[in-house]
Amino acid sequence: MSLIPMKEILQDAYLKKYAVGAFNTNNMEITQAIFNAAKEEKSPLIIMCSDTAIKYMGMDYLIAMIKAGAKESGIPAALHLDHGKSIDIALQCIKSGFTSVMIDGSHLDFKGNVEITKEVIKAARPARVTVEAELGKLGGIEDNVIVLGKDACLTDPQEAVKFVTDTDVDALAVAVGTSHGAYKFEGDAILDIERILTIRHAVNIPLVLHGASGVSEEVINKATMYGAHLPGAKGVPEESIKKAIENGITKINIDTDIRLFFTTAIREILFTKPDIFDPRKICGPAREAVKETVRVKMKLFGSSGKA
Ligand code: G3H
Ligand code: 13P
Ligand code: ZN
Repeated sequence: MSLIPMKEILQDAYLKKYAVGAFNTNNMEITQAIFNAAKEEKSPLIIMCSDTAIKYMGMDYLIAMIKAGAKESGIPAALHLDHGKSIDIALQCIKSGFTSVMIDGSHLDFKGNVEITKEVIKAARPARVTVEAELGKLGGIEDNVIVLGKDACLTDPQEAVKFVTDTDVDALAVAVGTSHGAYKFEGDAILDIERILTIRHAVNIPLVLHGASGVSEEVINKATMYGAHLPGAKGVPEESIKKAIENGITKINIDTDIRLFFTTAIREILFTKPDIFDPRKICGPAREAVKETVRVKMKLFGSSGKA
């Protein structure tokens, strides 16, 4: 199957009130794990890359791998640019075969965010490429930009209405209490579910939850057992994810959990089998661990069986 616009994947989820996971990839094993999970779960798929991930892999390698995954799996999949910070990178992705781009103008003022989003939409629409924007500021770390707690601000529902009207964007990332990375909450894990519901009623487009990794105690304990140092790591509880979906979230971004499960599997092998140095025997189990992680997310999000 060839890649399809993300909008088509989100439309079905929006109407039927389930969510589709958007999973970050950085290499071949993670790419294969994500496609294999989607195939086994019969789930529609959004696979995505940040611009630093594109630089790491190289655009041509990345596109070739994703096309191979889509063809081999036969799953309806979209290739999405995650947190595109400039018009240039968005245009480059549109030209290279991405079927969706995020233009992240959340660091700009409202007017600047509207302008950059409209500019990308102008190029994306004729190419049938979906556009996601972000309004509000998540806490955490994005591409080496640290958004500290006091600067993070939740999405204002009235501003969201104006933003969607002014831009005609296809999907909107909202800030409702999550943040990127493995340290999401200093105290209790609290998401502003009411805010999701209010925005959902105010704008009629799919809403996106960034920073949604679970950072389970199980993976942190295992990683720690094999040498990791991640004190205080905390993610979004499964119950909050379920509530977020019930109240209007349609796309859910996951990167940190993939990184944690991938590297924990590698730590375990290197620690327990010190005689092993064949990369396939190290990366193979890591690929398996990521596949299982992604399958669990697909079940949780309700996208299993929807492809
Ligand atoms: O939100 C950002 C993603 O988690 C990926 O960021 O690939 O630039 O580290 P990165
Ligand atoms: P996590 O860091 O919680 O996995 O969030 C990833 C994300 O939002 C990518 O855009
Ligand atoms: Zn994000």
